[in-house]
Amino acid sequence: MAKASIKDQGDSYVHAGQNNNLISSDLAAGTGTGTGAGKPIAAALHKGGNGGDAAADKNGGGGSSGSGGTISSDTHFYGQSPPVYPSPNMTGTGLWADASSKARDMVGKMTLAEKISLTSGVNSNTSCSGFTPSIPRLNFTGLCLSDAGNGLRATDFVSSWPSGIHVGASWNKALAFQRGAGMGGEFRTKGVNVLLGPVVGPAGRVVLSGRNWEGFSIDPYLAGSLVSETVSAIQGVGVITSTKHYIGNEQESYRSPFGDTEAVSANIDDRTMHELYLWPFQDAVHAGSGNIMCSYNRVNNSYGCANSKTLNGLLKTELGFQGFVVSDWGAQHAGVATTLGGMDMAMPGAGVYWGEHLKSSVQNGTVPETRIDDMAMRIIAPWYQMGQDQGFPTPGIGMASDLTKPHKIVDARNSSFRSTLFDGAVEGHVLVKNIRNALPLNSPKLMSIYGYSAKNPDQNTPTSGSSSWTFGAESYSWSEFFAGFFTGSAAGDIPIAFNGTIYSGGGSGATSQSLAVSPFDAIVQQAYDDGTALFWDFTTDSPGVNPMSDACFVFGNAFATEGIDRPSTHDTYTDGLVKHVADRCNNTIVVLHNAGIRLVDQFVDHPNVTALIFAHLPGEASGKALVSLLYGKSNPSGKLPYTVARNESDYVGLGPDLPEGEFAKFPQSNFTEGVLVDYRHFDAKNITPRYEFGFGLSYTTFNYSNLSVQKTVANSSSSSSAALFDQYPTGAVLEGGQADLWDVLVEVAADVGNTGAVDGAEVAQLYVGVPKKGEAPVRQLRGFEKPFINATQTATVRFALTRRDLSVWDTVAQRWSLLRGEYTIEVGGSSRDLPLVGKVTI
Ligand code: BGC
Repeated sequence: MAKASIKDQGDSYVHAGQNNNLISSDLAAGTGTGTGAGKPIAAALHKGGNGGDAAADKNGGGGSSGSGGTISSDTHFYGQSPPVYPSPNMTGTGLWADASSKARDMVGKMTLAEKISLTSGVNSNTSCSGFTPSIPRLNFTGLCLSDAGNGLRATDFVSSWPSGIHVGASWNKALAFQRGAGMGGEFRTKGVNVLLGPVVGPAGRVVLSGRNWEGFSIDPYLAGSLVSETVSAIQGVGVITSTKHYIGNEQESYRSPFGDTEAVSANIDDRTMHELYLWPFQDAVHAGSGNIMCSYNRVNNSYGCANSKTLNGLLKTELGFQGFVVSDWGAQHAGVATTLGGMDMAMPGAGVYWGEHLKSSVQNGTVPETRIDDMAMRIIAPWYQMGQDQGFPTPGIGMASDLTKPHKIVDARNSSFRSTLFDGAVEGHVLVKNIRNALPLNSPKLMSIYGYSAKNPDQNTPTSGSSSWTFGAESYSWSEFFAGFFTGSAAGDIPIAFNGTIYSGGGSGATSQSLAVSPFDAIVQQAYDDGTALFWDFTTDSPGVNPMSDACFVFGNAFATEGIDRPSTHDTYTDGLVKHVADRCNNTIVVLHNAGIRLVDQFVDHPNVTALIFAHLPGEASGKALVSLLYGKSNPSGKLPYTVARNESDYVGLGPDLPEGEFAKFPQSNFTEGVLVDYRHFDAKNITPRYEFGFGLSYTTFNYSNLSVQKTVANSSSSSSAALFDQYPTGAVLEGGQADLWDVLVEVAADVGNTGAVDGAEVAQLYVGVPKKGEAPVRQLRGFEKPFINATQTATVRFALTRRDLSVWDTVAQRWSLLRGEYTIEVGGSSRDLPLVGKVTI
């Protein structure tokens, strides 16, 4: 992977008050809603100027291509993504039979114009992100589609849920389900038919990608398990999920065409596609996701929303997907090619390609009307499937178009999910260092609190139109956000949100908190009750420190947002603040709200840094959850859903790929590392991480014993039993692929004992090593369970390994292949702490 222009934060920060470039560039953005970006700390963080630099950066790649000849036509790439036509009709089999027959009935009564009206968005008097019109004569009410996977955005009376990365760090399937149910219920109450989430792409291949925080984990199994729970729960309350972004959307730089440069192409081989990137989408489809959003980027040099291989081939044929494919907003770059390539709905509108043009393409015979019928069927069937034809709130009813004008209050929050918001916030915190019993706190007399990220941002209020508030950038720089998100002209230059704590990342996946408790709010409350003295300083990088403090806290963050890749994995300002405080306070506890991987080697070995928490993106209960952990009312149970390296160079893919050489106009991102990302790469190359995938501390200790590994006994009365251990699956394609991919072939059990003095939950993890050593990762996660175990008690965890879990993708047979030979089964508390090892031969 080419190294992008990751701006090293170096030592070039200027100190408070020396530079106020941001003030002018914020105003230049013309919105007047910048979040205090002219503050001294902002100036101290911005390295050398305004968005103009970044724009120059981004254009720069093309200019350097030189004499070697720049490819100027995409015919050069023809055939790299195999053609798969025609677009398969929905089959309406299995669980979709009823919905599909009702849809067939309704679509049968539609005129061509009505069918076409379903396939793109129109303006509405709501703040829905997208809106398809109703067809009153057929009692079709239309669809409101809205962001996103971490809570309903840009409206009032909704909750800020823990973000995807936080759910990933909690490793808790039941909690992920509850979150989905609570969140989905809010969308429903507001009349949102389609929730634009959850996210499993980006997966996290590019460490600095701006949107990794929206998804659960770089590990396909972890992401797949959590997306399955999330889809089931959201759709269980009648809201269609739009699992996104399909597929290979691993970086924000050049995600869309810019000037005369096309969007980046994610070049992914067949095996990597199946074993890594498609895997969690497969789980989402298996769980019944009614909608999939095709992505901005190109895949093997064909646009994601016109790619017949990924849409017609992988999704609609191999995975048997029954719902509709919606374009990401503005991701449609062709008419007939997208229609025949498998896209079913264009958002936010028909634009220059569909609408009347789609109609003409049918009338002039370029597109068969049967394709339009299938598009309509795929859109109407999920509406029936989720029961939206009966008693569903009017689309967009709670989505006032302008919150600064009087509007009807639709309070979507449901008090019965308050504990889910709280538990979700607690469980995504990962404690990675805790020495000299720093935590939990023991009746401190004096605490000192430092850092820009302890408190709330100064604003949490809607505006008329777009603002920091609508995109979760209240604590960040509006100008930086604006340039990256709306003009596509900025590379990220500011690594942190310097105006306050963060509850989510930024962009369309941001949350809109109706209320949020910052870490500082909650600490003050607790200190007040306990009579603890408190000092604080949120603004300076070299604050005074009272050496008599029982504990000093430093709060920092690592911000990330849609539209911009992050500039670095750490920042000098925050690292310097930690070191400054640690030099003066012998019990310095660091809390980082990180919207992605954050390296800590600059300070973590400082002898006075006694504890470190990766606090991720907890949502509105952030401060409450943190205080509960700090004071030992909750026991930490989160584990890292990614690897924290010692050095940036330890990662296989750090930054985004940029246009270079002959590909100046067609940027290429070659996924040549294959499936060896994150811990698979560290294992393969024998690199010692700082904190490994799956690692996290508790206030208690656990031990593992009694591993049992059993092959499933084929039940001769079951028709599939004879083929249970055959090399290839033989089942019919249902949603998610061949049905027998989910047959359980091996059952594993182990005992987990709580050997400490505190009750707590432990994430027990199972990794499989397949027989093809050398060709496959050393180990891959294939099971996890999170029992809550009282002190001194033992729990038994059980894992069911399916045919898919034990197979590799066979690129010749185009099937999942169950290998013959000895499999290694490892069970333990992290990817590098696996005390139980067993074998099973197939
Ligand atoms: C994002 C999607 C989002 C859509 C609608 C796009 O910019 O990539 O994730 O759902 O906008 O807001």
